Amino acid sequence: MAILDQFDLSGKTAIITGAGSNLGREMALAMAEAGADIVGAGRRPEPLEETGELVRAKGRRYLARSTDVTDSSDVGALMDAAIAEFGRVDILVNNAGGGSAGRGKTLPEHTDEDWYSGIDANLSSAFFCSRAIIPHMVEQGGGRIINITSGWGYRGGRNRFMYPIAKAGVISLTKCLAMSYARDGVRVSCIAPGAFPHELGPETEARGGMQPAGEFGLMEDLGPLSVFLASDASEYLSGETILIDGGAIAAGVTPAGVVPTVAG
Ligand SMILES: NC(=O)c1ccc[n+]([C@@H]2O[C@H](COP(=O)([O-])OP(=O)(O)OC[C@H]3O[C@@H](n4cnc5c(N)ncnc54)[C@H](OP(=O)(O)O)[C@@H]3O)[C@@H](O)[C@H]2O)c1
Repeated sequence: MAILDQFDLSGKTAIITGAGSNLGREMALAMAEAGADIVGAGRRPEPLEETGELVRAKGRRYLARSTDVTDSSDVGALMDAAIAEFGRVDILVNNAGGGSAGRGKTLPEHTDEDWYSGIDANLSSAFFCSRAIIPHMVEQGGGRIINITSGWGYRGGRNRFMYPIAKAGVISLTKCLAMSYARDGVRVSCIAPGAFPHELGPETEARGGMQPAGEFGLMEDLGPLSVFLASDASEYLSGETILIDGGAIAAGVTPAGVVPTVAG
C-alpha cells in the first residue's frame, strides 16, 4: 500500500471520549479528516454536538452519546449504541480525564472524593471502555486503542498525587492491553501530551517560553499523531507511549512549565 494511503481511515469508526473539548475534539476532527466516522462521548451534550457539527462539515457521520465513563454500565451502553449505529468500531480513544481533583493538596488534605473521582475519570474510565470494546474488536479481527496519559505519568509532583498516579496507571494499562491482545490484531498505544493550554494569552505565552521548544503545545499538534496511531501506518506499534511535549520531559522540564521544587 502506498505510504500515505496507510494513514487513510475511510470506512472506520472511532469512539473518542471527551470529544466535546480541546484535545478530544482535535483528535475527532483529525480522524474525521482522515476519513473516519466519529462517536463522541462525554457527560455534557452541548459540546459533543458542537464537535458533531464540525465533524459533519468534513463529510463524516457522527453520533453524540452522553456518557459518564466512570460508570461501567453507561460505558457498555455507549459501545452498544456505537455498534448499532455504525456496525463496527475500529478505534477507541480513551481521552476523558483531567487533573484538577486534589491538585495542590498535601497528602492528608487529599480526600477520598479527590482520589476516587480522579482515579475513576482518568484510569477506571480507560479500563472500562477498553474492557467493553475488546470482545468486539477481537471478533472483527482487530482494532486500535489509544490511551491518553500525560507527562505527569512519568514523574511525581509536589502535592500532586491522584493525577500522576492515575496517568502512570494509564501507561501500564496500555502495556497490559497490548500484551494481552497482540495476537488478536488489537494495537494499543498511548499518547503523553505535555502542556497544551486551553486558552492562549500573554501569561501562557510567557510560561511557554520556559519550554525547550519555546512555547506550549497547540491543540492541532495532537491530530496527526492520533491519526498515525489509529491507522494502518502504525500496524507493528503496540504497548508504546509516545510523548508529545516539545522536548519537555527530555529536558527535565515539568509538563506544567514550573520548577518542580517550587510548585507541583
Ligand atoms: N491539556 C493538557 O495540557 C493535557 C496534558 C496532558 C494530558 N492531558 C489529558 O488529555 C485529556 C483531555 O484533556 P483536555 O486538556 O482536552 O481537557 P478537557 O477539555 O477538560 O477535556 C476533558 C474531557 O473529558 C470529559 N470527561 C471528563 N470526565 C468525564 C466523565 N466522567 N465521563 C465522560 N467524559 C468525561 C469532559 O467532558 P464532560 O465534562 O462533558 O464530561 C471533557 O470533554 C485528559 O485525559 C487530560 O488528562 C491534557
